[in-house]
Amino acid sequence: MIRVAVSGAAGRMGQTVCAAVEGAEDMELTGRADPALDVDLDGVLGEAGVVVDFTTPDTALENAKACLEAGVHVVLGTTGFDLEELRGAVESAPAGANCFVAPNFAIGAVLLMQASQLIAKHMPECEIVELHHDRKLDAPSGTAKRTAELIREAGGSVHEPIHSVRLPGLVAHQEVIFGGEGQTLSLRHDSIDRSSFMPGVLLAVRRVADLPDRLTVGLEKLL
Ligand SMILES: NC(=O)c1ccc[n+]([C@@H]2O[C@H](COP(=O)([O-])OP(=O)(O)OC[C@H]3O[C@@H](n4cnc5c(N)ncnc54)[C@H](O)[C@@H]3O)[C@@H](O)[C@H]2O)c1
Repeated sequence: MIRVAVSGAAGRMGQTVCAAVEGAEDMELTGRADPALDVDLDGVLGEAGVVVDFTTPDTALENAKACLEAGVHVVLGTTGFDLEELRGAVESAPAGANCFVAPNFAIGAVLLMQASQLIAKHMPECEIVELHHDRKLDAPSGTAKRTAELIREAGGSVHEPIHSVRLPGLVAHQEVIFGGEGQTLSLRHDSIDRSSFMPGVLLAVRRVADLPDRLTVGLEKLL
């Protein structure tokens, strides 16, 4: 059994992750950390083999550091923090625990990123529109920033700015529109329910302990 604690357990994603872990036959939910539950992360680290963090941009980095210092693997879904700072924290933490980060755990979003890289080789000019619920703290989304990075690596030209729409009713959506001579090509992914992220989160929980690198970024690395 993999012993899993959830950080941000009272949040929208955290509650969904707790239910998914409880429903997984090979996992045991050992702790729920969240200021809203009056339980801090330190209070759940002792029992956990893996921590899943879906919190806020300003706390995720400290939480990841605390996990690594305690020798507990961490799966980080929070977006909006500085990935280079995390890289530094992983390098300076004692060996023994790994960190897995993904800006998007939905398979459809990962496939959209990969298809975008393929298209960018032939139709480089593009714009990204990301649409999320109105309680989201960061903009543009971590998914949009990662998509832009991957498109640029593939030789594409992502126009600035990335467009961020925030409205009630939305969950997590993204469109990449490529423009060429006399034609456009649009890719769109819609997470219409937070359950879309759960197979990816559970996969990361199962794999994080055995990853070859101490820091791994992107769900595509596990597929
Ligand atoms: N990677 C993905 O696939 C993916 C998908 C959806 C959302 N997200 C990201 O996940 C994060 C959480 O999103 P949400 O909609 O659940 O937010 P939310 O506001 O509903 O939940 C965040 C929770 O974190 C708690 N929290 C704050 N500080 C904490 C701390 N120090 N320790 C423990 N818990 C703390 C809050 O009390 C809150 O309950 C955001 O950064 C969002 O962008 C990522």
